[in-house]
Parts: sequence; structure tokens; C-alpha cells
Amino acid sequence: MTEKQMEQLREDDVVALLLRQHGLVREMFDEVDKSKGARRAEAFQRLARMLAVHEAAEEEVVHPYVEENIKGAKKVVQARLREEKEAKKLLTQMMERGADDKSFDSDIEKLKTDVLEHAMNEEHEEFPIILENTGEDQRRAMGTAIKAAVHAIATDKDLTSPQAIMDRTRDVINDKMGKGR
Ligand SMILES: [Fe+2]
Ligand SMILES: [Fe+2]
Repeated sequence: MTEKQMEQLREDDVVALLLRQHGLVREMFDEVDKSKGARRAEAFQRLARMLAVHEAAEEEVVHPYVEENIKGAKKVVQARLREEKEAKKLLTQMMERGADDKSFDSDIEKLKTDVLEHAMNEEHEEFPIILENTGEDQRRAMGTAIKAAVHAIATDKDLTSPQAIMDRTRDVINDKMGKGR
């Protein structure tokens, strides 16, 4: 995506929202990197929750849309889904083991590399496809649904595993977008 394309997006546009979340994820990884002890564990929890909502939202709203509506996009989407699946697996293991575990440092390094590369791939290959093939209203509806999911997760501290967070994200988005399950 070009700088100009990004600047022109409305605040509630799904692509603008996802780009902001990518920025937040980068900052949250930095926060984990520079924190220690209990603060590091907290910073990781925040990052993990954000990642779970973000990736579930993309799996629900962005990837299917690109795959269904845009010719030849199947390969791009399949590659992104594979990356997300890997990241989810690692994230789940890390949450189970906790930030005190001896493998945490190397795991967080790997997660960071993988997730940030994945986000770059989306920004370069997928988001432009969405911008070219959707109208503003459609993108705003997607953005609104994702925002509702973020809010639902932020206010439900009982959801602790990535899977539970992802399931709830999907439910809220489907509900908002009138898809049902
Ligand atoms: Fe993603
Ligand atoms: Fe993403």
C-alpha cells in the first residue's frame, strides 16, 4: 500500500483499523522486549489478547472476503492462513507455559519475527486487493464489526485462552455482520 492510499482511508475503514492494530502489535512486542518479571508477563498477556482478536477478525472478515470475491486470490489467502495457524499454535503454547518459562525468550523472538512478517505480507498483498475491490460502506461495516469484537474481548477478562478469545471474536463479528453461525 502507498502512503497516500493509507492517508485517504477513513478512521472506521477496516483497512485503517487493521493497519492501526498492526502498529499496536509492533509496539506491544517492543513493550514485552523491554519489560522484566511481572511487567513482562502482563505485557505478554496484553499482546496475546490483541493478537488473538486481530487474527480471528482477519480470518473472519478479510481472508474469506478476498478468497470469495477476488479471482486468483486463493493462493495469497491460503498462505496467510497457514501463517496465522502457526502463530496461533505458538501463542497458545506460550500462554500455557507463561512468561517465566525457560523457552519464553526464544519463543517470543520467533513469534515476533513470524507475526511481523505476516503483517507485512497482508499489507502488501491483501489489503490493496480489498481496497481495490470494495466500497467504503462495505469496509466501514467490516471495521464496525471488528471494533465491536475488540470491545467485547476487552470487557470480558474471563476469556483467557487464544481459542476462547478467537471464538468469541468470531461470534461477535458474525452477529454484527448478520452472518449467523
Ligand atoms: Fe493476519
Ligand atoms: Fe494482520
